[in-house]
Parts: sequence; structure tokens; C-alpha cells
Amino acid sequence: MGAGIAQLCIQAGLETVGREVTLELAERAQGGIAHFLGRAVEKGKLDAAERDAALGRLRLTTELADLAGCDVVIEAIVEELGPKRELFAALGGIVRQETVLATNTSALSVTEIAAAASRPERVVGMHFFNPAPLMPLVEIVRAELSSDDAVETAYALGQRLGRNPIRCHDTPGFVVNRVLIPLLNDCIRVLDESRVAPEDLDTAMTNGAGWPMGPCTLVDLVGIDVHVHASEALYEKLREPRMAPPPRLVAMKNAGLLGRKSGRGFFSYEKG
Ligand code: CAA
Repeated sequence: MGAGIAQLCIQAGLETVGREVTLELAERAQGGIAHFLGRAVEKGKLDAAERDAALGRLRLTTELADLAGCDVVIEAIVEELGPKRELFAALGGIVRQETVLATNTSALSVTEIAAAASRPERVVGMHFFNPAPLMPLVEIVRAELSSDDAVETAYALGQRLGRNPIRCHDTPGFVVNRVLIPLLNDCIRVLDESRVAPEDLDTAMTNGAGWPMGPCTLVDLVGIDVHVHASEALYEKLREPRMAPPPRLVAMKNAGLLGRKSGRGFFSYEKG
């Protein structure tokens, strides 16, 4: 997700710092961005000079300290509360007072993340959808202590990135995932109940319900681990049985079948 968000930023003309835990991972993300921008050039949607200028706006780093000059920081790290809270606490000692800190969390509480920050009023949710460069929505999430200014800064950034932002409050799953996660869980349970094959379930939902991609392809794209974490977080808050991750997905996560990113989920994918 971080790479997709960085791609949107550099395409919108923003000087962007991409921070990863290793330089190798950062370079891999940069390579993905260069690939997609290259495809846009081949299709005549972007000229080569624009592509080069966009790529020139991306600076890679492994150091949090290199985020010091940023007006907005968008966090897209592992989907767990502890590491996110640690990161937001550390950013307080690095960024300027007025910097907006946004989390791209799918289903965790923005308020609980913000509570670890030294200035929780500067923290909001900016929830992008996968793949970020293709999905127009961004949910701008107001946490308990978010200031109007921080919310409106994030909203304006969403517009600048060419997205269609919506404003919402910090409720479990916000808007889309409150609906989509139990729906996808139902789809996975149907796999076992009706003994339909994953490719046939996908055909059913694309051909019979007009979905742009089938549920198994979509969960593979999102990441089985991310989906399981999001389901667990929603179940913990809402206690609705449909929110709980189906056992088949938990088993896949435990086996390392994470979808596209691991090369295998419901389907197999070639490396890269
Ligand atoms: N950046 C830029 N371009 C990209 C890209 C990326 N990251 N990924 C793919 N593309 C390009 C492809 O290269 C392709 O171009 P070429 O074929 O010329 O190379 C082009 O985009 C279109 O690709 P597709 O042919 O696959 O496009 P499509 O018409 O099938 O649409 C889609 C793709 C928009 C993803 C569509 O299938 C769709 O809407 N799927 C549903 C996705 C969805 O529901 N996402 C939400 C997931 S839930 C979530 O994210 C929330 C959460 O918190 C977990």
C-alpha cells in the first residue's frame, strides 16, 4: 500500500520521502512504481519526461528522521496496534508541530493509535484502497481528538492526489470495511458450505453480482494476513459472528499462503 500511495504523491507533483525498513524493500517498491509509470508511458497516458520527473520526486530512506521536513506523514506499516502506536510516539519527536500524521489502517482504531502521539489532535485516518493508484476512494477518518484543521488538510491532500475523499468518524471498519469484511468472510464460508471451487466462486460473483473481481482474487490482492487481522479487529470491537475470520483463512495465514505478495493464496502468482 505504501508504494501505491507514494506513486499517487509523486504523480501529483509532491516531493515524497518513502521510508522502508530496509533499502532493498524500498528499492523493490520504487521498481514497482517505475514499472507502472512505464506502462502509462507505453499507453500514451504519460510522457517520458513526466515519468522521469515523477520518479525524481521520490527519495528513499530507512531513517524516520528523514521525515522531519514533511507536511503530512502517511503511515502504512504492519496492521497491528502496538507497532503503529510505537511509530506515532516516535514521530512526535521528529516532525514539526503542525505536521499531520495520517494512518492508513484498515480496521484498527485511529483514536487508539493517536493516543500514543504527542499531539493527537494532528492525527487522522487516511484509508486508501488496494491498489491505491487505481481505487478512487480515500476515507478521511476523524478520531476523537482530531482537529478540524488536520481533517481538512487530509481531505485536501486526498483531492490533490486525484482521489474522491469522504469524511467519516472513527467507528470499527469505518465505512467500506464495515460492509466489505463480513461480506468477504461470507464468501469464504460459502466455499466450504457449497463446496464451490475458488475460481467458480469468483466467476459467480463477477458474472452474477457484477463485482469487478471475484472474492478469492480480491482477498489474495488485499493479503490473507491483512484480511485476517482486519476481521479479528472488527470482531473484537463488534462481536458479530460474521466479522470473525473464517477458519480456512486463518489456516492459510498460518501456512504462509498470503496471496499475491507470497506468490500463493487461493491462486498461484508468478514472482514479481
Ligand atoms: N499502479 C498503477 N497501475 C496499476 C497498478 C498500480 N498499482 N496495478 C495495476 N495497474 C495497471 C495495470 O498494469 C493495468 O495496465 P496494463 O494492463 O496496461 O499493464 C491497468 O492498471 C489496469 O489493470 P487491470 O486490467 O487489472 O484493470 P481492471 O480493469 O481489471 O481493474 C481494478 C483493476 C481497478 C483493481 C478492478 O479489478 C477492481 O476495482 N477490483 C476491486 C478492487 C477492490 O475492491 N479493492 C478494495 C480492496 S479492500 C481494501 O483495500 C480495503 C482494506 O482496507 C484492505
